[in-house]
Amino acid sequence: MSHALSPIPVSPYTTGKPVVSVRGLVRNFGNGNVLDGLSLDLQPGTFTALLGRSGCGKSTLLRTLAKLDPAPEGDVQLPEERAVVFQEPRLVPWMRVLRNVTLGLRHPDAEVRGLAALAEVGLSHRARAWPLTLSGGEAQRAALARALVREPRLLLLDEPFAALDALTRMRMQGLVETLWRTHAPAILLVTHDVDEALLLADRAVVMADGKIAADIPIPLARPRRHGDPGFIALRSRLLAELGVDEEHLAAREPQRIDAKGTDTRAAGAKPGSYGLPAGAAAAPSL
Ligand SMILES: Nc1ncnc2c1ncn2[C@@H]1O[C@H](COP(=O)(O)OP(=O)(O)OP(=O)(O)O)[C@@H](O)[C@H]1O
Ligand SMILES: [Mg+2]
Repeated sequence: MSHALSPIPVSPYTTGKPVVSVRGLVRNFGNGNVLDGLSLDLQPGTFTALLGRSGCGKSTLLRTLAKLDPAPEGDVQLPEERAVVFQEPRLVPWMRVLRNVTLGLRHPDAEVRGLAALAEVGLSHRARAWPLTLSGGEAQRAALARALVREPRLLLLDEPFAALDALTRMRMQGLVETLWRTHAPAILLVTHDVDEALLLADRAVVMADGKIAADIPIPLARPRRHGDPGFIALRSRLLAELGVDEEHLAAREPQRIDAKGTDTRAAGAKPGSYGLPAGAAAAPSL
């Protein structure tokens, strides 16, 4: 069985020189420490999912790693080549898509590179379009191209699929996995969706009380399937780390895994729900 849960002998993210190294990170907005001595290493080319309750500080950590916030307290080592994609595409409306992608890129071949990045995300035909004429999925693909063109060693993704419909979301997940395989940046993906974390990442870290409270390897073979026993076991473990009562949720959603072990709801996940449908999301206070 290829999807074994047995521990991998040497964890890929505990050896070698990390591309991101954070020690004792503290961030305070005047009402207690949001980040409270947080430490985290990311190894080059690894895919890490970052989970945790709403308001626990995930975006604060990402903004710090993107250097979008003032210099923090603590030791933070980052690569120069960083890029970030948010839940909203944040395209400049009065610039065409290609110009958005190459904005701020100081390179003689900026346009060629921009076009290549757009081709990689399947948006060549929209290079001359205005952002407001793009669909939600197209706009997020443009945002991905804008990140990609910078050839990041660190790609930060803050709930990048959360605003998309389920089908577009699945396609985007596949695209991000392909781009990760091709370009091998270290990726830190914030998500509320446990299944998304398990589909994409090598490792899941859970934030609580301003720190990394759990650090869980995901040694599943790819491509991954919701119904595989290893997947299901890791889902239970992650939900437990997140403090979600799985039995309570299963009672609310009896059809989720059918008798053949197939996830009957795979295309119906809603954002903000740890991979659970909208009705169940309201139950746990996440
Ligand atoms: N600029 C700011 N000024 C004041 N408080 C802030 C600021 N940014 C974040 N916070 C507070 O810090 C805490 C963590 O916020 P953050 O956005 O990092 O949470 P999160 O884990 O990303 O939540 P969510 O899952 O809902 O996106 C929250 O209590 C938030 O209100
Ligand atoms: Mg957030």
